[in-house]
Amino acid sequence: MADIYKAGFVGGAVQDALDWIEEKSEGDKRILVPFAGIGRSTMAMARAGKTITSFDTMHYPACIYRGVFCATEVESRVDKIRYSKGWAFENRGYKNLDDRCAGFMDWVAINGTEFDKACLGSAMVRSTIMGRMMSWGSNVEQLYAKFDKQREYNADWINQPGKLDHHEGNVFDSLPDETEYDLICIDPPKVLTYSDVYSLNFRVHHEILTQGQGAKLPKWNRRSMAPNMRKLFQETKGNKILFMYVSRVIPDITDLKRLLTQFAEIEEEEEFYHNGRSDYGLLLRRKEMT
Ligand SMILES: C[S@@+](CC[C@H](N)C(=O)[O-])C[C@H]1O[C@@H](n2cnc3c(N)ncnc32)[C@H](O)[C@@H]1O
Repeated sequence: MADIYKAGFVGGAVQDALDWIEEKSEGDKRILVPFAGIGRSTMAMARAGKTITSFDTMHYPACIYRGVFCATEVESRVDKIRYSKGWAFENRGYKNLDDRCAGFMDWVAINGTEFDKACLGSAMVRSTIMGRMMSWGSNVEQLYAKFDKQREYNADWINQPGKLDHHEGNVFDSLPDETEYDLICIDPPKVLTYSDVYSLNFRVHHEILTQGQGAKLPKWNRRSMAPNMRKLFQETKGNKILFMYVSRVIPDITDLKRLLTQFAEIEEEEEFYHNGRSDYGLLLRRKEMT
């Protein structure tokens, strides 16, 4: 059973769903993860001899992959609380964000290593009220303590086995992909009412970490799933697919299954229930397209 990588991130599957991913991916050597997030699914599958190709538009996952999982040693430039005036100081973005927290985040985003930015990204999420990424709820000492704690935690996650070929960018810009994958593990953004949480709640997070220089985060609405999945299924190769989904989102699991069965057959279906909501895992076999 693989440990869960924790970084105060919304979404991402729980332990039993990750155990299922680990079990189902056993023996698969070439794996595609089109929506990487903080790499929990990747960490459940990473083993010596495997190559996991992944994509995510946010800079934060790229800092985690490059600065933590693929790093051979911990590299940090943060020795104490220092301040710069950058994107966070000028724009704020979070309700009640004070000068000092903004200044510290700007200093790390400008001067820190990718390992530092991976730690800052987690400390930022945990410094907002309830981790909801709307209102700020920490002073700079608390922010620094969270940063430092994540630095210790992330140090245990460096040097992961296998080859992690992560791309910071929109997966749809890299299609068609001619690689014949043994497994494609899809955990797409989920739409709550009108939008996914990443383009909405992680925009400020992304702007601060990239100092306003990052790629635009793609917006997913209730109509995005069908065209996006059509493109993904038509322009990738590999018959075995794991599809991770959750309850209380749009489209719901029934409509999602209707959509997916246009492209694949459902071979196995699991429901992982926790705290009044469910995570679903679907093992799919791609249908021959005519
Ligand atoms: C549900 S999360 C994935 C969580 C992941 N399974 C994990 O283990 O942490 C979905 C991710 O898709 C990313 N995303 C959304 N649209 C994307 C796109 N077009 N290309 C690449 N990544 C995208 C979001 O930034 C978000 O990190």
